[in-house]
Amino acid sequence: MKPAHLAELQNTLRHIVTAVANAKLYSLHHPQIKRLCQDARRCLDNLLNGRGVVSLLIVDGEILFDDFPVPHGLHTQKFARLMEQHRINRIIISAEVKDDELGELIAFLVAPGHHHPNCNHLRFETLESQDTPQANLPIDTDALQSVKSEGHSRLAEIFQGFSRQKTIKMTGLAEIVSGFINAFNRETPSLLALMPLRSMDEYTFTHGLNVCLLNLAQAMHLGIQGTLLHDIGIAALLHDIGKLHIPMEILDKPGKLDEKEWAIMKKHPIEGARRLLDCPGVPQLAVVTAFEHHLRYDLSGYPGVSGHWHQHLCSQMTTIADTYDALRTKRPYKSPKTAEQCAAILQESAGRELHPQLTANFLRLLEQVTNAI
Ligand SMILES: [Fe+2]
Ligand SMILES: [Fe+2]
Repeated sequence: MKPAHLAELQNTLRHIVTAVANAKLYSLHHPQIKRLCQDARRCLDNLLNGRGVVSLLIVDGEILFDDFPVPHGLHTQKFARLMEQHRINRIIISAEVKDDELGELIAFLVAPGHHHPNCNHLRFETLESQDTPQANLPIDTDALQSVKSEGHSRLAEIFQGFSRQKTIKMTGLAEIVSGFINAFNRETPSLLALMPLRSMDEYTFTHGLNVCLLNLAQAMHLGIQGTLLHDIGIAALLHDIGKLHIPMEILDKPGKLDEKEWAIMKKHPIEGARRLLDCPGVPQLAVVTAFEHHLRYDLSGYPGVSGHWHQHLCSQMTTIADTYDALRTKRPYKSPKTAEQCAAILQESAGRELHPQLTANFLRLLEQVTNAI
């Protein structure tokens, strides 16, 4: 995002939030509200210059614009809170938006519980109410399977290189993620049907690929595209890279870990993040995700963090994907859960261990896959 665009967006949000505050203090008819709507529309005109729409995605207090998180600030955070109070996860503003329509938006934001304003140039979406895309898509399973097995061998090669030389071949990872994104664009959501039950022997590669597929599906369903989508895929492939340094007898132990083994296992998020920091070209998001992927929504889990920690959206998606993949995994001491059992367990954990909205998003995806196969 260009700094000039960021400034226009921040000013737009500042005018909207200030107009809402004024409308609450005085009334919707106060002259200040009209002036602030005009100011907001002028900033939007500059922001919209050359583009048809501005789309803002709001999830978990974050605002994403042009696939980039908008830096936190007083007004941006207030705007995100206002949107979430009204259960809006996406607002799409068209180029022809009028001052009056922004006035209707302010009126809506002042009065909780009201319906979205019915405007020509403002559209609102809620994650809970997104329409389910058509089921019963024809699935080209052979083509999809070859995308995945190609990804599997390339990832194995890249991880082996990392163990030997301590560097990561970023171009190889980028190609795997691009291959998945392309395949998703053609075959959504059926690529998820490629996640077979797997045995523990090929844990690292298959698990990384499965979590990558699940993260990309979640992110695309939220409308995330471009660089951020790509980085979310890379972060998923690398989230467990810290496990490459855990002895095989612990990783492959056919039973529960003892206290000492568990202490070693719990180091893999910090170890992974530390090693990724040393690898040139690895996106910052991959480092953050490696560190945070065993943190829970209620901030339990590991590594221990302060009560004010803000877990990144990508880490929370990875936690959901990781949990689902673990439930589906066949172990000598544990039989895999069915898709229905997994869905029930995820539902039960939503709001405590897992992010509630992201879990709802994930469960809808699972439903689509079930309908498509
Ligand atoms: Fe992990
Ligand atoms: Fe994992």
